[in-house]
Amino acid sequence: MPRKTFAGLVCAVAVGFVVLAVVCISGPALNETTPASAAENAVTFPPVDQLIHYTTVRRGVTREHMLTNPQALAAIKAGQPVAVGTHVVLVDYQSDVLHRYLVAQKVGEGSADWAYQWFWPDKSIKADENVAQCYSCHRSREDRHFMFTFTDALSFK
Ligand code: HEC
Repeated sequence: MPRKTFAGLVCAVAVGFVVLAVVCISGPALNETTPASAAENAVTFPPVDQLIHYTTVRRGVTREHMLTNPQALAAIKAGQPVAVGTHVVLVDYQSDVLHRYLVAQKVGEGSADWAYQWFWPDKSIKADENVAQCYSCHRSREDRHFMFTFTDALSFK
């Protein structure tokens, strides 16, 4: 191989590495506009002491208290949409110790306008949770306010 061609090859490889390094270093910066899966979203921490505990689900050491506000329970019974801002909360106890709050909140007028969040007992958000999964599972209940415990809310007295 002539000396010049060899030098050119080395040079090309070096340039290639530089390009690769720049792409790698700037990669995460370019991604900054993509929201993290469990960043803060539209869901606010609910006023739990103002909500009504309408049903309990028990499974082994798990005890789940389901809460929502009185206006939402009245709307559900009347077959009306719940008000924008309504919280539906699952308070999860493990062996009688508060473990987390799973929160659904009505964020718009449409029947699919719900958003989800996982809060720890100190009200901080679980950082690595993919709340899109909450939404997609609950979406199967779109005709029942996205609620699995819709019938319990309906029959609560
Ligand atoms: C694979 C399906 C599935 C996923 C994913 C899921 N849920 Fe649920 N969720 C349920 C079921 C089923 C119930 C009824 C209670 C039970 O069986 O424990 C429920 C109950 C609830 C309730 C009480 C109101 C209701 O719908 O009955 C809230 C609030 C809730 N989930 C929030 C969340 C949040 C927040 C997440 C994500 C961090 C989440 N859920 C993920 C299936 C799911």
